[in-house]
Amino acid sequence: MTRSSRKGYSDPEDKDGTVAGSTSENGAGTDAVRKEARPTEPVELDIVDPNFMAEAYDTYAELRAEGPVSRVRFAGGGEEKASGDGAKEEQPEFFGRETFFVTHYDEVISTLLDGRFSVDPRSAMSPEKLEQQPAMPEEFRPLSRSILLLDPPDHTRLRKLVQPSFTGRAMQALRGSIQEVVDDLLDQAEREAAERGEAAPDRRMDLIEAFAYPFPVAVIGDMLGIPREDRETIRGWTENLLRVDRFRGGEVDEETRAGLQDFVAYLKDLFERKRRAPADDMISRLVRAGEDGGEAMDEDETLGAVFLMYLAGHVTTLNLVGNGVVALLTYPEQLAKLRADPELAKGVVEETLRYWGPVDFLARRIAKEDVEVAGTTIPAGEQAAVGLAAANRDPERFANPDVFDITRADANRHLAFGKGIHACLGAPLARIEGQVAFETLFRRYPDLRLAVPGEEVRWGGSFLRGFARLPVLF
Ligand code: HEM
Repeated sequence: MTRSSRKGYSDPEDKDGTVAGSTSENGAGTDAVRKEARPTEPVELDIVDPNFMAEAYDTYAELRAEGPVSRVRFAGGGEEKASGDGAKEEQPEFFGRETFFVTHYDEVISTLLDGRFSVDPRSAMSPEKLEQQPAMPEEFRPLSRSILLLDPPDHTRLRKLVQPSFTGRAMQALRGSIQEVVDDLLDQAEREAAERGEAAPDRRMDLIEAFAYPFPVAVIGDMLGIPREDRETIRGWTENLLRVDRFRGGEVDEETRAGLQDFVAYLKDLFERKRRAPADDMISRLVRAGEDGGEAMDEDETLGAVFLMYLAGHVTTLNLVGNGVVALLTYPEQLAKLRADPELAKGVVEETLRYWGPVDFLARRIAKEDVEVAGTTIPAGEQAAVGLAAANRDPERFANPDVFDITRADANRHLAFGKGIHACLGAPLARIEGQVAFETLFRRYPDLRLAVPGEEVRWGGSFLRGFARLPVLF
């Protein structure tokens, strides 16, 4: 096995036509991971260290070797995220705080299925502490009503209302518009290259900026029923929204705030129009829920559901596309298999989700009572982080887990979409988006390749695994 280097992603190993992953055998400490001298001390995970992601699979292997549950401390980011308006946000409680970290496949599943864990930060607060919580600024209020941060029964009620937009039928209906979005974006990249006087196969684009970034935003817009002519205006607002999520409850500049207010005003107006003239889209379904006497959503909840689609469905899908393209370009024998059989685009999606899934871990499951996980007691009020990426490389579950193999028969048993009541609602959509993207990119551009040396393609730092830039020639 090769040790993962500092270049951002692992190298092909051409001994047997397969690829090497990044599992370390020497287990040496790194800049990003500092094991304290005493083994009982928690392992420090510095997720804002630029090398964290490049070395994370080694770290997860070391943690897995300790057993299913480790103690870690997430370092970095605490100070800079300190709140400016007096609102004590959750970030400082996450950074610097000792946390349990679940790394084995079976225990990751059992933790996610265990109803004794909560995702609502308020669940562990005393009534006094709840009382002291500052009121949330008006624009952010809908975010606190998103199902990602709610426990049953609110979670159950709201998820049921959103679910019908993700049925197989609804997804198949979107496939055509997903293909259109992909083709439009690539046509645009070609036009821009032609204006610069570039010709195939040496045209340039940053695949993230020109393609992977705008792609999911456009698809989510179509799914919600946002008129296409409003797409450009919306784009600015949704970028603001992504920033708001990072600084939830904390310091947000005036421009972002104003943008979010405009977005809310736009959506309220759109809700009204969809109420009067409904179409076959998600917003129409949400605003008309309850008309048949069933459950309804209030306006904040509907806004929260729309925001969540952008928050949960954007960077994740962008990273699926970016990570899959880099994996295929890194392991050319896998790309050759896709070229020979475009149906394998499905395999590329599943194996990318397993091998380099966009979400490395779920940071928060709060124990509502003492919970024992594989012999470790997680005391009431303490939180566990759940290692999806660690589970997806668990050798007890996947043979040769550090090998990227798009024909792997059980790749779809990965946990990249989570598990249990919060399992990704958008998974069927993300899968189709990924399949259409990979199939189309490599069909249209048989010579697609990196425009920079591999060392320059580097992971960004956060719990989301992805590349910020991806210059390619096509
Ligand atoms: C490759 C792309 C994606 C990945 C890897 C991904 C991953 C995840 C994961 C791991 C969760 C569980 C979070 C938790 O348990 O705390 C989740 C939840 C969720 N995802 Fe995705 N997601 C992706 C794409 C999407 C898309 C495209 C949408 C919608 C447009 C979406 C909507 C949601 C929603 C609404 C939830 C919350 C479900 C709940 O709390 O009940 N996701 N996603």
